[in-house]
Amino acid sequence: MSKIILLGYMGCGKSTIAKSLSQNLQIPFIDLDNYIEEREQMDIKTIFDTKGEVYFRKVEHQSFLELLHKDENCIIGLGGGTPCYANNHELLIGEGRTSIYLKASIDTLFNRLVLEKEKRPLIAGKTDEEMKEFIAIHLFERSYFYNKAQYTVSVDQSVEQIVADINKVLNS
Ligand code: S3P
Repeated sequence: MSKIILLGYMGCGKSTIAKSLSQNLQIPFIDLDNYIEEREQMDIKTIFDTKGEVYFRKVEHQSFLELLHKDENCIIGLGGGTPCYANNHELLIGEGRTSIYLKASIDTLFNRLVLEKEKRPLIAGKTDEEMKEFIAIHLFERSYFYNKAQYTVSVDQSVEQIVADINKVLNS
């Protein structure tokens, strides 16, 4: 079974790109955050607030494993932190897996995240200035893990172009 794994920082457009790719390839898309929310019957912010991040990271790891072992081809959209915890980065490479890092500039991330920061536990409550600095440092720290993906595609371009670049990578 083949799994296409999309990863990247919060706000890089994983879900939008995955939905478009899913239509294009006729393969179902499963968003890891949504999968966790259904499994836990709680939204991500409430899981962080009531059970804590360590609990979330455990469930996230378990859920990622479940999706990788699903008996069907699918596109898996990871959460922004997934590759950076519980050795999940080691799961990005393997038989029947193609992982793609959706790489965005700090400006692209800031412009997208500023519109919906209250939904994201890691940046909720920060001022614009604090947010920009947080994104820059956090992205720098996380890049090590994101770069463990098999391929990298720039997302500082239109969704159509991104999907075309992903198709090129998949056919390479
Ligand atoms: C997180 C990103 C979120 C979600 C959680 C933690 C992170 O996913 O998993 O809030 O650590 O970057 P998105 O990247 O889909 O927003």
